[in-house]
Amino acid sequence: MTTNRFDLKSKTALITGAAGLLGIEHAAALLECDCRVILTDISEDGLQSAQKQLKKEFPSGEIYTYPMDVSDLTSIQTVSYKLKYKDIDVDILINNAAIDPKVKGEQGIVETSRLENFSREQWDMQIAVGLTGAYLCSQVFGTLMAKKGNGGVILNIASDLSVFAPDQRLYRKDYLKEDMQPVKPVTYSVIKAGLVGLTRYLATYWAEQGLRSNALSPGGVFNGQGDEFVQKLSQLIPLGRMANRDEYRAAVQFLCSDASSYMNGQNVVMDGGRSVL
Ligand SMILES: NC(=O)c1ccc[n+]([C@@H]2O[C@H](COP(=O)([O-])OP(=O)(O)OC[C@H]3O[C@@H](n4cnc5c(N)ncnc54)[C@H](O)[C@@H]3O)[C@@H](O)[C@H]2O)c1
Repeated sequence: MTTNRFDLKSKTALITGAAGLLGIEHAAALLECDCRVILTDISEDGLQSAQKQLKKEFPSGEIYTYPMDVSDLTSIQTVSYKLKYKDIDVDILINNAAIDPKVKGEQGIVETSRLENFSREQWDMQIAVGLTGAYLCSQVFGTLMAKKGNGGVILNIASDLSVFAPDQRLYRKDYLKEDMQPVKPVTYSVIKAGLVGLTRYLATYWAEQGLRSNALSPGGVFNGQGDEFVQKLSQLIPLGRMANRDEYRAAVQFLCSDASSYMNGQNVVMDGGRSVL
């Protein structure tokens, strides 16, 4: 008899930003492996609809929801106390929450995404969620996993922009003046590269306790973006297209299960080949 190294039957995974486009996919990936999932997000309405959507696909899946703000230590600790009260230990943490401001342009008298105009408030808020949030959740849930001494997994959701710079030509609108051209903000690159650093740090810090940390760096997911953008981006990708939202499920299953038992501290880049050009 062969053992199924992807089996997560007796495991519990907590996902941050779980009400978003990819958060729901991560949850579905783990439910496919019979994992119990805890969906957390700052949006309570988002959590309810995510749970409803997942229940349709996994009627017998064990799915809990907890509102949680990853930038607020008290909010994270409150969820951890609530789980303790229910006798639920977290075995897998997926740091997925982020503020991903859509690059639109034409929003005012100055283009606020541009480095010259980017405000300290935007910087602080985006770093607080995307990077500090992953650190705080790792501190709270990673510490508990390490103390339990039963191994565990931290998966940080980075981006292909953790390994290369944004190509700002993608966001260009020819009819706008230079200083009004929208860009992918500086925070995105800083956060995603920072998550890879956090991943490496945690990978050695808790290695003796059998707690593994890895990062997954997805390329852009098709979600109804405009034709011009999709065409321009697809030309930069050897596979010639953006990702479908469910194409990261198998990687999440691999990285969160014993199938990846000897992988630690790595950044798995799934970008249709864009980063090797
Ligand atoms: N969608 C893509 O094309 C893509 C590509 C590469 C990487 N990523 C990364 O994948 C992750 C998920 O992306 P997505 O496309 O699902 O984004 P999304 O915007 O759909 O979801 C993000 C979720 O995070 C939640 N959130 C925001 N602030 C929060 C806070 N303070 N505390 C808790 N939750 C908070 C939001 O409510 C939202 O549900 C992000 O880290 C993103 O950078 C996405």
